[in-house]
Amino acid sequence: MRKLLVTGGAGFIGGNFVHYWCRHYPGDRIVVLDALTYAGNVATLEPMLSHKAIAFVQGDINDRALVERLLHEHDIDTVVHFAAESHVDRSIVDPDAFVRTNVLGTQALLSACRTAWYHEGKWREGTRFHHVSTDEVYGSLAPDEPAFSETTPYAPSSPYAASKAGADHLVRAFVHTYGMPATISNCSNNYGPFHFPEKLIPLTIVNALHGKPLPIYGDGLQVRDWLYVEDHCVAIDRIISTGQPGTTFNVGGRAEHVNIDIVRRLCRELDHQFAGSSALAARFPDCPAAKGAACESLITYVKDRAGHDRRYAIDPSRIAGTLGFEPAETLATGLARTVDWYLSNEPWWRAVMDGSYREWVQKQYSER
Ligand code: NAD
Ligand code: TYD
Repeated sequence: MRKLLVTGGAGFIGGNFVHYWCRHYPGDRIVVLDALTYAGNVATLEPMLSHKAIAFVQGDINDRALVERLLHEHDIDTVVHFAAESHVDRSIVDPDAFVRTNVLGTQALLSACRTAWYHEGKWREGTRFHHVSTDEVYGSLAPDEPAFSETTPYAPSSPYAASKAGADHLVRAFVHTYGMPATISNCSNNYGPFHFPEKLIPLTIVNALHGKPLPIYGDGLQVRDWLYVEDHCVAIDRIISTGQPGTTFNVGGRAEHVNIDIVRRLCRELDHQFAGSSALAARFPDCPAAKGAACESLITYVKDRAGHDRRYAIDPSRIAGTLGFEPAETLATGLARTVDWYLSNEPWWRAVMDGSYREWVQKQYSER
């Protein structure tokens, strides 16, 4: 039985990971540590939270005393570290928060684990620190350049990517210097349920439902490699369960697409779902599809993001070859599942957007 501390477990990927882990390993114990920034939402962790299948602690990964206490009290043997400031646009406006959480927070966690797990020159048997990182640490690719491999030199462009690169270097340094049993995954763009509607895919869905413009930065021809979030959870499971400590794995979806193509596909999926559905038209009367028009009519080209990376692409040979990981979802099936989820879970995204659940959360879940 594993005892996991999942940082950032009330966020998008961390939340999906907790659902995944509870489904596959119901005998394991999970403690979620999350500061509940604008991007965190405890509703994401239902019903496991109400059923007391997991423990939730609202707190900051920079709070070393708290982290050490949790590691000790819950006898944690596995840390899966998702907590981060994760939105590139926000990092351009306010880089400080990114350095504080992504760099200093990761350092605080690593040190707390070392205190808890390293005694008399040896690491406690069976411990693992898994750091969840991004392909953005490698910078931007030209159209004809080969995809990022684990040996591609780091060249982060945005403050977000630079802060994640800093965190990766600290994890590598702990492996190299202290022999820490740590692994890293550098993953491409994720999408799926519980995604905060500031990122391209959920923003497009929610804006289209309200008949609001769908902003396309620059010419919309930037390329991302898209992975359905549950596939990312499977990859992390493989790495924790069978990946060699000290190893980095690149994780991708084998699905490179330009942004405008993603937005058009989402529009067509919404048009399709609305066709003949008077119930959807009644719920979302401002959506063009409610009046039989195309959601694509909302596409609006806007000023480009500063320093916008042109292309990301992952070479997944290592994780495919050594751990046998391949994504199960195609872009078509993954996008359809995602649109379905947003149509079926309106209370979730309404609550995260207006922040109305926050006061209630403070009372319910604040342990300290
Ligand atoms: P997210 O923004 O949805 O969630 C981040 C979570 O971390 C939130 O619940 C937030 O409350 C919490 N958090 C933030 N600061 C904290 C702090 N100081 N202490 C404790 N908790 C804190 O992010 P996400 O998209 O789920 O990303 C999770 C991880 O995966 C990040 O490390 C990100 O860099 C990485 N990643 C994301 C993607 C992607 O496409 N979203 C792709 C590759 C890697
Ligand atoms: P995003 O979802 O923010 O992820 P990341 O910046 O980490 O790749 O953006 C994905 C791509 O979509 C990126 O090239 C920026 C672009 N984009 C838009 O064109 N319009 C938008 O409104 C957003 C949020 C992103």
